[in-house]
Order: sequence, then structure tokens, then C-alpha cells
Amino acid sequence: MPNSFKLNLVQRPRRLRRTPAIRALLEDVVLRTEDLIAPLFVIDGKAAPEAIESMPGVLRLNLSDLVKECLALRRLGVRAVALFPKLDAGLKDPDGTAALREDALILRAVRAVKKSVPDLVVMTDIALDPYTVHGHDGVLKADGSDVDNDATVGILTRMSVLHARAGVDLVAPSDMMDGRIGAIRSALDAAGFEETAIMAYTAKYASAYYGPFREAVGSSKAAGTRSLDKRTYQLNPANRREGLAELQLDVAEGADIVMVKPAGLYLDVIHELRRGTHRPVAAYQVSGEYAQIQAAARLGWLDLAACRRESLIAIKRAGADMILTYFAREMAAELRG
Ligand code: PBG
Repeated sequence: MPNSFKLNLVQRPRRLRRTPAIRALLEDVVLRTEDLIAPLFVIDGKAAPEAIESMPGVLRLNLSDLVKECLALRRLGVRAVALFPKLDAGLKDPDGTAALREDALILRAVRAVKKSVPDLVVMTDIALDPYTVHGHDGVLKADGSDVDNDATVGILTRMSVLHARAGVDLVAPSDMMDGRIGAIRSALDAAGFEETAIMAYTAKYASAYYGPFREAVGSSKAAGTRSLDKRTYQLNPANRREGLAELQLDVAEGADIVMVKPAGLYLDVIHELRRGTHRPVAAYQVSGEYAQIQAAARLGWLDLAACRRESLIAIKRAGADMILTYFAREMAAELRG
């Protein structure tokens, strides 16, 4: 029963939430299809698309299916893809030498996509984890105690030049070695690729939310665990200033775009980077963030479309200009209406 109690208020914010039309007038952050980058997993040979158990709806694609997927994304208005190879176990070794092969799967993938969908922005991951038997992002020191920072950077510079030659628009070093952005910039410039941009994984945290991705590229299988310990190179989830320190370094070394990863759990870090630089900021909604929403939706506990939208708008609201997300295709389809 309503009673006669009355507040004497000057401000009643709910006036502006009254109708859908008023709410639309006031909308602050807008998610655009052009903000989305679709990560895609690539396999060699002619196999049918392979499901990834912990990432429902995401498939590993052979080259011709990859091209079809890129055409479909482009038709939906998605302008950018990030390619990740999954190698056969037989091609992996301790030093990740397959990363430097001239006929590497990832190079063939880049060329195939660029040939069929020339105006799609193509970026590739620069790190050794899909190529090493131990699943680390770099080569290890002789005693196996840790990654060898400088030796790894040397390999990544060569890898970056190969990717640039294959036609990528951006290389995205995700390895977190010290000094790699500057070294990659110099190597690209020396090889005549001053137009190839660098999206630096700047504040990449040692997160447990990468588990499904490691299944997708086979690095957990190679290493025998999904919880590879990368804490000597990825950031401590407890630290915020450390992300800003990495930001200063990456910008000084020539990063064109800086990234925060994961995204949804690190909105404060996205916000800090947004305030700390005039460079564009990207955020990566990682595999575990995707898997969480998918799993809860499958149980009927969360609404998939609504959580997809809200999770992405929150990342944009925090300050991201662009978002890598496994929801890219569905989100684009929804935005198209
Ligand atoms: C590897 C890499 C990882 C991701 C992107 N590149 C995993 C890792 O660092 O172990 C994670 C992406 C995701 O979880 O979706 N260099």
C-alpha cells in the first residue's frame, strides 16, 4: 500500500530514466562494431573445424575456413582480426624454432586472409608459447630456471619481421620480455617495415583466466598443465602502478597501441592507462572471461546476450578504444540488428 510520505527533492535522477527514448538521449558510452577485434585460431591441413571444449562457439579453423570466417566477419562490419596458430605437437621444440620457419602456418594464414579480405586489419601474436614444448612465451635459460629475456627478444624481432613481410598491419608482442618493443621497432624499421605498427601487450597480468586459450593453442597440453607459471614475466594481479611503469616503457620504446589484459577484472588498470597516455588503449577480454559467461549461460544462470553486451560496454566505459573479444562475431551481429 503506498502511503502519503513525500520527500521534498530538487533533484530526482529517475526523471531521466523514465522512458527508453530519454534513456537513449543520455547514453554515454557507445559500443561500435568497429571497436571489436576477433581473435581466431588457425590449424594446418584440411581438417574440419575443431571445437574447443572450454570455449563454446569458438573453433580452430583451417586456412580456407579461416578465410570464410574473415569474410563473414567483414560482412558484419568487423574490421580487425588477431590470428593465433595451433601447431601439431611434433613441430614444437624447446626453442620454438618453428616460429621462424619461412613456411610457418601463421604466415600462410596472414597471406591467405590479406589476399581474400585486403581491407581487414590483421594482427598476429608475437610470443613463442604455441611453438615451445614447455609452453612458455620464450626460450629458457640453460639451467631451465627461467625464460632467457634477451635471447627471447632476439627471436621475437626476427619473428616480427617475418610477420611484417607476410603482410600484417600490426604485430602484437604478448611475451612480456623487457625491451622487446624497442627491439622489435628497430628490427622492423631496419627491414623497411616502418609502416607496420606495434600493439604492445603492456599490462598483461599473470592471470588464471588464460586457461581456455592454452587449451585452444595446445600450450597446456605441451606443458602438461593449464596453470603454467609465468609470474617472472607477466604482471602481478595485485599491482596497479606496475602497469603504469610498463606503459611508460612501451610508449618510450615505440608502441603504437598499448593493451591491458585481461579486461573485465582490470578495469581500473584500463582507466589508469587511459589517463596515463594519449596513445590508443586496447583491452583483451580473455578466454576465461568468455568461458565464465558461456558456462553460466549454459546453466541458465546468466543471460548470454545481456552479459556479453554489459561486459563489453564496461570495458569501453573504463577507457578502452578497442576490444579483443571472442564475442566479436555475435556482438557484431547483434549491433547490426
Ligand atoms: C600467449 C598468449 C596468451 C594469451 C594471448 N597470448 C596466454 C598466455 O600468456 O599464457 C591469452 C588470451 C586468452 O586467454 O584469451 N603469449
